[in-house]
Amino acid sequence: MLERLDRIEKEAAQELRAIAAEEALQTWKVKYLGRSAELGAIVDDLRQLPKDERRAVGKRMNEVKTALEATYQARIETLRQEALERSLREDVLDVTLPGRPLPHGRLHPANQTMRQVLAIWAEMGFQVYRSREVETDEYNFELLNMPAHHPARDMWDTFFTSDVGVVLRTHTSPGQIHVMRERAPEPIRVVLPGMCYRYEQITARSEIQFNQVEGLAVGRAITFTDLKGTLIAFARRIFGKQVRTRFRADHFPFTEPSAEMDIECFLCGGEGCGVCKGTGWLEILGCGMVHPTVLANGGYDPNEFTGFAFGLGPERITMLKHHIEDIRYFWANDLRFLEQF
Ligand code: DAH
Repeated sequence: MLERLDRIEKEAAQELRAIAAEEALQTWKVKYLGRSAELGAIVDDLRQLPKDERRAVGKRMNEVKTALEATYQARIETLRQEALERSLREDVLDVTLPGRPLPHGRLHPANQTMRQVLAIWAEMGFQVYRSREVETDEYNFELLNMPAHHPARDMWDTFFTSDVGVVLRTHTSPGQIHVMRERAPEPIRVVLPGMCYRYEQITARSEIQFNQVEGLAVGRAITFTDLKGTLIAFARRIFGKQVRTRFRADHFPFTEPSAEMDIECFLCGGEGCGVCKGTGWLEILGCGMVHPTVLANGGYDPNEFTGFAFGLGPERITMLKHHIEDIRYFWANDLRFLEQF
């Protein structure tokens, strides 16, 4: 039995010396020191030996075990040290080389303006509300005071779907009805951002899809003065404190009276240039006092409630702020354009 132990010790040491990888080392460990290793079998045989012989073999067995464990530890250290030296030698890293710059993604210019616009309205107490892009004819026109065949419908060239009475919204105004019907008779102060679609010739000035931000305030004593004050405050925040504004009478079927707000052309300072087409003013948004019929359609008694509404185009604001001369850049996905913002 002692010879058997000598043989195990010799064999194990030999095998260990030949091992060059850590995985092989683990196999070796299982074979010689593991639960089903030969050494373990000897423990069982030990019981059958006479007492004095048992002690000698037991002692020798413990010696072999301790020796194997020690060589195993030494071997694993050596292998790890070798691996470390190899990687230090081979994987040379020049820390003085300049780093590779990571390209940054960024927000689309339209989204940048959109966020800025919404942040301003939120600060002024307007809640952001979203509504659907696919609308019914009823919401897009009828409830906004444009019954079927009303000539004012021609102001919005419409994409009709194959479902009768279902259209892509031509403006964010139908959202007004959705909010009113949800909130009546509570007072309202919301902005409704989102994509609109128009079946138009695509030119430098008009696209078939674009964002709008609709605004709506409904309450008990809201006047046109509130509308003007609020919109002027907005213009100052987005274009700068010194911006001059003016209101021009206009017509929209869903507001009465209706107006358009202009800001002084910041390119020529009001002198007249190519961008403002010689007028010195730039058109920014449409607005007005919510028409009594629209209030009633939304569930508010027009004898008790009044409100104002407006609709602005963030792409148009972006174009003015950055002197972009063609709206088609926005959805053309040309990195040369997008990377400038
Ligand atoms: N919906 C109008 C458009 O797309 C813009 C507009 C004008 C919205 C006046 C309004 C408003 O809320 O009061 O041309």
